[in-house]
Amino acid sequence: MAVDQSRTKSTYSLQWNRFRILRPEEDRVTFRNRTGLTDLTGCVVLDAGCGMGRYLRIAASMGPNQVIGVDLSRAVDAARDLTVEFANVTVVQGDLLRPPFGPNTFDHIYALGVLDHTPDPKAAFLALCRTLKKGGRIAIWVYPREKPMVERVIKVHRAVSSRLPVPVLLGLSRLMAPIGAIKRRLMATPSRVVGRLGVLLHALTIGVSMHPDPEVRVCDTLDWYAPKYLSRHTFDEVREWFTAAGLVEITDLSLDQSHYHHGQGNGINLAGRRPG
Ligand SMILES: C[S@@+](CC[C@H](N)C(=O)[O-])C[C@H]1O[C@@H](n2cnc3c(N)ncnc32)[C@H](O)[C@@H]1O
Repeated sequence: MAVDQSRTKSTYSLQWNRFRILRPEEDRVTFRNRTGLTDLTGCVVLDAGCGMGRYLRIAASMGPNQVIGVDLSRAVDAARDLTVEFANVTVVQGDLLRPPFGPNTFDHIYALGVLDHTPDPKAAFLALCRTLKKGGRIAIWVYPREKPMVERVIKVHRAVSSRLPVPVLLGLSRLMAPIGAIKRRLMATPSRVVGRLGVLLHALTIGVSMHPDPEVRVCDTLDWYAPKYLSRHTFDEVREWFTAAGLVEITDLSLDQSHYHHGQGNGINLAGRRPG
């Protein structure tokens, strides 16, 4: 079935060229937490859905032979610019549902906040797994399914927002970003009543980022409200993708992480290996 990913292209082409935000220390910690990778010496690595390339830079500095970034949108322009000093990085435009790579290509693949923005996350995951070498490993992070009440709020908000023109949403994200700072402050207060007020406000405006940096807050808020596809998943559902792909050593990377508190919460974050 043909699916329309034009909204994904327009959203992320604008987002990642407007917000070329590198936060080297934060990016390194997030990459370490969400991939579990520390050493890529001699490896061929795929950053699936690389966006503007913040994690390409981290992977490239860990000694791999080659890191390839692939993205559907013109985010590839930003990714190329931001990795220009790394001779071992190549960036290509392509669709994860039809990855432009042969089988047995990669030692490591990671897809951070990407599969949940595709029209068929499981199909994209299985297509990626086919490009792993024997013994190769994949790590993914996707949004978690929220409580039914919050899911209903999200559905109503996004039914409207994902149809608005992306530049309009960019303006709205700028207007809404201060709410993120208010939520942060309320939720950090020692008063239980005020704290609960913060939680309630967060449930009603869950897509408004609480990142401490105002510019990242705008970017993350746009990232939540603009895309046509934003699916949320349970642990069991994602684990089933890994077993369907025949992967072994399936690990829950969300345990034991030293997260920065950005207010978007933890995701479903698993890694697995193709048998050798
Ligand atoms: C939320 S951004 C995450 C970017 C990057 N992984 C990061 O964390 O900085 C999602 C990215 O997935 C890309 N994407 C969505 N659907 C895709 C597809 N079918 N094929 C390739 N890339 C896709 C988008 O263009 C976007 O850059």
